[in-house]
Amino acid sequence: MILPKHVKIVEVGPRDGLQAESITLSVETRIQLINLLSDSGLRALEVGSFVSPQWIPQLAETDKVYQGIQKKTGVDYSVLVPNIKGYGIALENEVHSIAVFTAASETFCQKNINSSIEQSLQTFASFIPDAKAKGLRVRGYISCAIACPFEGPIAPVKVHEIVSKLLDLGCDEISLGDTIGVGTPLQVQELLKNIPAPLGKLAVHFHDTYGMGIANIYAALEGGISIVDSAVSGLGGCPYAPGASGNVATEDVVYLLDGLGIENDVDVQNLLKAAAFIDKQLKRETTSKASRALRT
Ligand code: HMG
Ligand code: MG
Repeated sequence: MILPKHVKIVEVGPRDGLQAESITLSVETRIQLINLLSDSGLRALEVGSFVSPQWIPQLAETDKVYQGIQKKTGVDYSVLVPNIKGYGIALENEVHSIAVFTAASETFCQKNINSSIEQSLQTFASFIPDAKAKGLRVRGYISCAIACPFEGPIAPVKVHEIVSKLLDLGCDEISLGDTIGVGTPLQVQELLKNIPAPLGKLAVHFHDTYGMGIANIYAALEGGISIVDSAVSGLGGCPYAPGASGNVATEDVVYLLDGLGIENDVDVQNLLKAAAFIDKQLKRETTSKASRALRT
C-alpha cells in the first residue's frame, strides 16, 4: 500500500462551515478566524464566497474579509464564485484563486445555483479562460459526487463526465464533494476507479454526517489522493440535508495524517486555538473528536 508523503489540507471552515451556521459573524471575527488558521500552517484556505447575499447572508461582505486578512506568502486564499458577477468582484478585489461549483445531480444544481449542470458549465466557460489568462488559480467543485439528497445515489460515470468537462474548461484542481456525508469507503474507491483526471489534481471533500469522513479520507489516500478538504472544529452543515453535519474536522484529519506519518504543514496546538476561538464565537460545542480529546 502506498500512501502520499505529503497531503495538502484545504481549510474550508470560513466558507463551507460558516455558510451553514445559524449565527452570522462580523467581518472582524471572520478575519480573526482566518488569521488564526493561517497561523496554524495551513497552506490553502477558503476565505468566503462572492455569491448572492440573499442566498447566503452569512458570507456577505467577503470582499471586506478578503481585504482584511493577513496574506502569508505561499498560502492559497481562495473565494467561491458562481457566475460572471462573482468573478468581477473577485477581480476587483485582486483575488488570485477562485473556485467554481456545480453538481453531479441536476436537482441539487438547480436548488444550489438556480441553473442546470450544463448551464453552470457554460457560465464557467464565460470567465475561466479569462481567469487563466490573468494567472488566477481555478478550483472546480462537484457536489453530490456520491449521492444527492433529492435523487439518491449518483453513478460514478456521471461524476467522471463532469470531471472531464471541468478539466477541459481549465480547472487546476477538482474537488469531489460528498455533500450530505452519506458515502462509505467502498463508494469512494468506486468513484476514484478510472476517474479521467490526474490524481494529483483531485481533492476529496467529505461532510461527516455519518462519521465516515476519516474512513473515506483513508480510502481516498489509498486511492492516490493527496488533497483533502476539511473545516476547523467540524463547522457547518448542509441546508438541503436534514441532520447533515459539517465537513470532516481539520483536527481529525491532522490527527490521522500525523498518525500515518504524512506531512501536512499544520501545527495542531495553533489549530486548536482557532477551533476554540470559533466555537466560542458561535456558542457551539466542537464536533471534532480529536479537538475534544486534545483540548482537555
Ligand atoms: P439567481 O437568483 O438565479 O441570480 O441566483 P440572478 O442572476 O437572477 O441574480 C439575482 C440577484 O442576485 C441579483 O440581485 C443579482 O445582482 C444578485 P438583485 O438585482 O435582485 O438585487 N447576484 C449576486 N450578488 C452577489 N454576488 C454574485 C451574484 N450573482 C447574482 N455573484 C446565484 C444565482 C448563483 C447568484 C445564486 O443561486 C447563489 O448565489 N447561489 C449560491 C449558492 C451557494 O453559495 N451555495 C453554497 C456553496 S456550494 C457548496 O457548499 C457545496 C460545496 O461545499 C461542495 C459540497 O459540499 O458538495 C462547494
Ligand atoms: Mg461542502
